[in-house]
Parts: sequence; C-alpha cells; structure tokens
Amino acid sequence: MMYKKITKILPKKLKDFIYKNFFLNFLYFSNYFRNKFLITKNVDLSYFGHKSRQAFFESCRYYLQYNRVNGIYTEFGCCEANTFRISLNTLGMYGKPHDINHFYAFDSFEGMPEPKGIDKALMWKKGICRTAEEDFLKLLKKDRHRVTTVKGFYEKSLKNFKFPSATKIAMAYVDCDYYSSTKAVLKFLEKYLSHGMILAFDDWDCYFADNKRGQRLAFSEWSNKIKSKYTFEQFRRISAGGNSFIVHENKKIGTDFEG
Ligand SMILES: C[S@@+](CC[C@H](N)C(=O)[O-])C[C@H]1O[C@@H](n2cnc3c(N)ncnc32)[C@H](O)[C@@H]1O
Repeated sequence: MMYKKITKILPKKLKDFIYKNFFLNFLYFSNYFRNKFLITKNVDLSYFGHKSRQAFFESCRYYLQYNRVNGIYTEFGCCEANTFRISLNTLGMYGKPHDINHFYAFDSFEGMPEPKGIDKALMWKKGICRTAEEDFLKLLKKDRHRVTTVKGFYEKSLKNFKFPSATKIAMAYVDCDYYSSTKAVLKFLEKYLSHGMILAFDDWDCYFADNKRGQRLAFSEWSNKIKSKYTFEQFRRISAGGNSFIVHENKKIGTDFEG
C-alpha cells in the first residue's frame, strides 16, 4: 500500500526496478530481523515428545499459509509454555502469507483440578503441572507483547470470557487432559468455530486411548451434538499422542468460499 503510494508518479520501468532491487530486499531483511530479534526461540526440544509437537506445528503453519488462514492462536492448558512457545516460534513468524497476530493462553495457573470419576488416572493429582501466571509470562520473554493470559478454571473462567468483536480463531490447541476440562473448553469454542480453522488435541491417547474417556469422549459427544452445522475433517496425528481436525461449516463445503 505504502509502496504503491510512494511510487505512484514514477514510470513503470523505474517502479519495477525499485520493486525488484530494493523493496523486496527491504521486506526480506525487515522480516529476517523481526524473526531474529522479536521471537524467543527457547524451547527445549529434547524433552519427551516436543520434537513431534514441533513437526506438527510446522505442518500447521504450512496449512495456514497455503490456505491464507488468519486470526489468533488459542491454547487451553499451557503450564510450562512448551507448546505455547512452539506455537509462537512457528505459526507466529513474521512475513508469512498468513497472519497469526495474537496468542491467548487459558489456564488455571494453579495446576490440574481434583480428578473425579473417569478423569482419575495414576498420573493425575490436584495441583500437578502448576505454573504460576507470572512464571509463565517470564518464559515468553520477547514474545509477551503478543500474548494474553486468561486465568481461572474453565468451568468458571470461560463462562464470562469474550474475545474482542470480529476475533477469528485460526487454531485452538487443547492440552488440558481431562474429559471434564475438555468438555468445558469445547462448549466455549462452539461460538468461535469457523471454516478452515485447526482444532488440535494433545492428549488423544491418554486414558489408554479409550473412546469413552478423556478428550476422545468429550470430542465425540460434542461433535455429534453440533453435526448439523459442523463437520470435522481428520487432519494430522501428533506422534506424541495427539490428534487434530479441520473445522468445516457444512454450508460452506463445496462452495467458492475463499477465506
Ligand atoms: C499437561 S499441562 C499443559 C502442558 C503445556 N501445554 C506445555 O506444553 O507446557 C495441562 C494444563 O491444563 C490446565 N488445566 C487442566 N484442566 C483445567 C481446567 N479445568 N481449568 C483450567 N486449567 C486446566 C492445568 O493447569 C495445566 O497447566
């Protein structure tokens, strides 16, 4: 836009020369420096499963890029900011054809709630995976300016939470393990679903990959309830044990919808 205004009065040949020799280089270098100095690349990928999560987020970036899906990234269950930093490092890179411009972290910041009924498992206890909100923010370093945290247990915090109007979610990453927590998150997400967005579950294979427990049960009940409006197309498996889907609005399937 600015380039067009500045070069408006110049002859076409000169305009093309400036575009090829200076403007493209300027864009390339400005994005190179923004990616180098405004993104914190500090996730320990040697940690269990993080390499496969990194590969997953990279493939999400390609999908969002070639479909020009813009919007925000939302994560439900963020504690040590591992997947959250991977998202900032991959989806949030500057100068790509898609624009993921803000990152929302939803967490109790008090750790897991008390597991009850089918949420019980040997690994879960109340308060496990606790990272205080201020420690979470410290981990983000240079990226804090593009992150909003929403503190509280979902059953309460999501009831009254609203995004600014016209906000579109490009990707939702659900990493809160329990059936009950995932159920509360999916209920909240229902009013923000849009054609082409990614919906990912980190804990698909927890609870012995039992379809009647955990994220599998929460997703199957919820997707069945809204099937007249939405279809969920299988996307990628996360080899660390997750799964993901592309949301389709039934009325847009097979149309000339461009985004
Ligand atoms: C396994 S950890 C997430 C790991 C994180 N994505 C990472 O890569 O570092 C699960 C998180 O879900 C949060 N959580 C689970 N159920 C919740 C609920 N009902 N309300 C709020 N937070 C919840 C916990 O506080 C915890 O931080």
